Amino acid sequence: MLERVVRGEVPRKHHVAFRDAEGRLLHEECWTRAGFDGPYTILYHRRRPHTQRLAEARHGWEVPPATPPRRIAKRHYRTQDLAARGGPPLDARVPLLWNADVVVGLVTPSAEDPVYFTNGDADDLYFVAEGGGLLRSPLGDLRFAKDDYLYVPRGLKHRLVPDAGPQRWLSIECLGGAGIPRQWKNDAGQLRMDAPYCERDFRLPEFRGPTDDGLRDEVVKRNGAFHGFRSEDPPLDVVGWDGAVYPLAFPILNFQPRAGLVHLPPTWHGTFAARGALVCSFVPRVVDFGPDAIPCPYPHASVDVDELLFYVRGEFTSRRGVGPGSVSHHPAGTMHGPHPGAYEGSIGAKATSELAVMLDCYAPLSATAAALGVEDAGYQDSFIG
Ligand SMILES: [Fe+2]
Repeated sequence: MLERVVRGEVPRKHHVAFRDAEGRLLHEECWTRAGFDGPYTILYHRRRPHTQRLAEARHGWEVPPATPPRRIAKRHYRTQDLAARGGPPLDARVPLLWNADVVVGLVTPSAEDPVYFTNGDADDLYFVAEGGGLLRSPLGDLRFAKDDYLYVPRGLKHRLVPDAGPQRWLSIECLGGAGIPRQWKNDAGQLRMDAPYCERDFRLPEFRGPTDDGLRDEVVKRNGAFHGFRSEDPPLDVVGWDGAVYPLAFPILNFQPRAGLVHLPPTWHGTFAARGALVCSFVPRVVDFGPDAIPCPYPHASVDVDELLFYVRGEFTSRRGVGPGSVSHHPAGTMHGPHPGAYEGSIGAKATSELAVMLDCYAPLSATAAALGVEDAGYQDSFIG
């Protein structure tokens, strides 16, 4: 997603004999995207990395079943009312809203993953609303904490090890991949000077060299199902790697917000681009400062997108009845805007303390039974009055 990096020992050229100090041949693992056309990373293992036997998959979450069409309306789901699922992250994910591009869910783990997990369907993007932990992979250890996004590329064999204490993570499974929005990169692939973040704002895994944590079991998700494998050799037996595909952590508060003379559209807040979706960060900021500016978002018909907003904390000037953990869903085709009084009440405001993650999704979102179980039935009518 960002620049090419190198960690540990790598040979002078791709695909040449590379040996350890005892003269034993090391084994490449080429991890590519978009076939062989996209970014890639090459790892060097002490043992052959592809010696898996088939095994039973004992872990995985319940993927959303097809749901019947439902009439469109403004929706509000109170994920703060969802009981913590507990268990390993691999079992603790509860999908809530989904389409063919993204599956948005809540992950509330209480234990570490007991197996390695490879998502063969999607890049996983998490937002850590509460808690934190460690992502362990052959590329190294990556710590993540409250207010971080955690990006896990498709095909990365990894485990999540949550810290002790409550955990609530928003999960965005990006079935067509995710990355930095094109408009924030220059021709060299570097983040532009006027992008809302720079390379230094992201954290990469800390490579620790080859090791063995004793685990050999892996679960692979592909085509919406979970498949078990058992390896002969430790997945962490990597002496070095280089490439441009790796997991990342990005603290949302490193996102540099903007304000203008008058209200700026959400595109200014774009943080990650996925197929069919844009992930935006709304962080505490000064608000629009022109004479007579109305900082509160104007009513708008989102003709092209379903808009999903996950409220993290702070004052939400445009909405009432929502709180940390709330997910609002405003479908394309019908207008939405501030709650009564919010529009005029925002005139003269100097700042907002809101913290939220928003998804603009081009395909219609469906709700799972878990989402329907925490729906606020009065939300549609709460805009009248
Ligand atoms: Fe909107």
